[in-house]
Amino acid sequence: MEKKHNMKTEVSGTLDFNSNGSKTEERIMEASRVKMEGMGPIQVSEVDIESLVIKYHPRINVDGIDELKRSIEKCGLQEPIAVYELDKGKYAVIDGCRRLEAAKRLGWKSVPCIVHENVDQRQAAHLSYVRNMERKNLNPVEIANHLVVMKEKFGYSLKELEIKGYGSKASISQKMKILNLPGSVLDKVREGKLTIAHGLHLLELPTSEEQERWAKRILEEDLSAKKAGKLIKRYISKGKQHKEAQEVEIPEGEIPGVFMKDSRDMSELKDESVHLIVSSPPFNIGMEFEEGISFEKHIEEVKAVLKECARVLVPGGIMALDVADIHTKHSSKEITLMGHRYQEWLREHGIYLKNIIIWYKNVMPLSKRKDLLNMAEVRHTHYKIVLNFEPIYIFRKQGRREVPSEEKILASRLSKKEILELCDGVWKIQPLKTKQGHPCVHPEELPRRLIKMFSYEGDLILDPWAGSGTTIKVANELNRHAVGYERELKYKPVIMEKLGLTDGESDTEVVRTMIESVQEIRSEVQVLEGATEAGETEGDICMAKIPEDGATPVEMSLNQ
Ligand SMILES: C[S@@+](CC[C@H](N)C(=O)[O-])C[C@H]1O[C@@H](n2cnc3c(N)ncnc32)[C@H](O)[C@@H]1O
Repeated sequence: MEKKHNMKTEVSGTLDFNSNGSKTEERIMEASRVKMEGMGPIQVSEVDIESLVIKYHPRINVDGIDELKRSIEKCGLQEPIAVYELDKGKYAVIDGCRRLEAAKRLGWKSVPCIVHENVDQRQAAHLSYVRNMERKNLNPVEIANHLVVMKEKFGYSLKELEIKGYGSKASISQKMKILNLPGSVLDKVREGKLTIAHGLHLLELPTSEEQERWAKRILEEDLSAKKAGKLIKRYISKGKQHKEAQEVEIPEGEIPGVFMKDSRDMSELKDESVHLIVSSPPFNIGMEFEEGISFEKHIEEVKAVLKECARVLVPGGIMALDVADIHTKHSSKEITLMGHRYQEWLREHGIYLKNIIIWYKNVMPLSKRKDLLNMAEVRHTHYKIVLNFEPIYIFRKQGRREVPSEEKILASRLSKKEILELCDGVWKIQPLKTKQGHPCVHPEELPRRLIKMFSYEGDLILDPWAGSGTTIKVANELNRHAVGYERELKYKPVIMEKLGLTDGESDTEVVRTMIESVQEIRSEVQVLEGATEAGETEGDICMAKIPEDGATPVEMSLNQ
């Protein structure tokens, strides 16, 4: 059976598969017998590693080679590589690509092989497949690629492939079909994260973008192929029926989407045209934009704005309002609670309080606050709690929100991680450390979370108390349309700058930045000193106004 085969070493007597040598000829013969089934004669020889090539072999994945290398190094090559002669002196691997790679990495110059004679490329390709399938080695993508080679390169018909044991004609076609998936999705099939059945459902989607988006969803939600198939079918049929929602009309203003005017009149906006309102009204705590406004006047104004909000909000739409209570401004005796007032005012318009989120402003460790450390002498009935939080009230207008197209739903999907983060009742978000041209600028993370959570891409978002324009900026970044109202003209350059509508720094900008830097340094010093006497800024780093009414430093919120 053994003969010299134009190879480096003739096999005879006891063959050493491993340079350490302990394997016997019997082992080769045993391996050979397995290899011989249904094939022509074989030769067992040591073949020069340089003369071995890989051609039309289904196994592409060569993961774990180093492990195999270590095992061969330790225990020797357990099974010779199966090859056939491709050209004179060139041998193609039928079975043993990984072993060959490991031998190369071990620096072997030759490797024991079983050389199948009278085998052509078609037969060899088939045999490679069979050998690898026996060991359940091939992933669906390797199988699909192999089937394509068998069909396209070697001309096998589906019928012939069926006879050769590749499954039914229909299943062969399906297996090959998955190669039409986009590369990133195919990778997931290759890795075993998506099945062929998942892949086939994904192929029902018309575009590769949709296929990628749905693959992401399947993985995130751990959807079975059956469930994914159902959802995809529903998505496709909905898409066919769906009349694209009317394009949102963005009013033209001097600043696109921003009206420098009072939001008690938002006649630029049509009834039921806004999908989400994200805002922080003035709190009436003596901010620079509240000068001369009594509490009664403030309430009257807020109610008028809320009425307009109720008019423009779509049925089922959300209104997310950051409304702090008033701690000392109106009465040194007690806190003026505000949330329930908004609840009452909005209830009149069929808008109901549904959720409350606590924005926890983890500004600095409490252990660093001198005002707290000095409280040791305080009577037990007089401790002050640090005002390092603000409630965000989530209201919803009665009625059913029209569902956007499935495409928009899909594009707006939240990841599992985001859902867990957003559904937490306490949002830990660092407030801004600098004033940015306005005394109470929200950190972008706050509107970002609210917009992601309560709207879809393409929705219209409104901020009726726009301030520096944070909501508008973030909404635009999240592929939403946005509109805002701000009545203080002095904030116009601030909004323009935030929205990227100014070229370079204006003179006022330079002056503003200088003033703010001085304010920041001053306020940081004050906070760190933790002074309790009058003159300290209220709240953690509020730079807006120094209280005159003897308010304790913990009373004013950071935001306002
Ligand atoms: C709390 S600030 C909003 C800050 C904003 N969230 C930000 O991140 O910049 C409230 C803003 O509403 C404005 N405002 C108050 N009443 C208004 C009204 N009726 N119409 C329009 N703007 C108003 C104030 O001038 C102030 O800039």
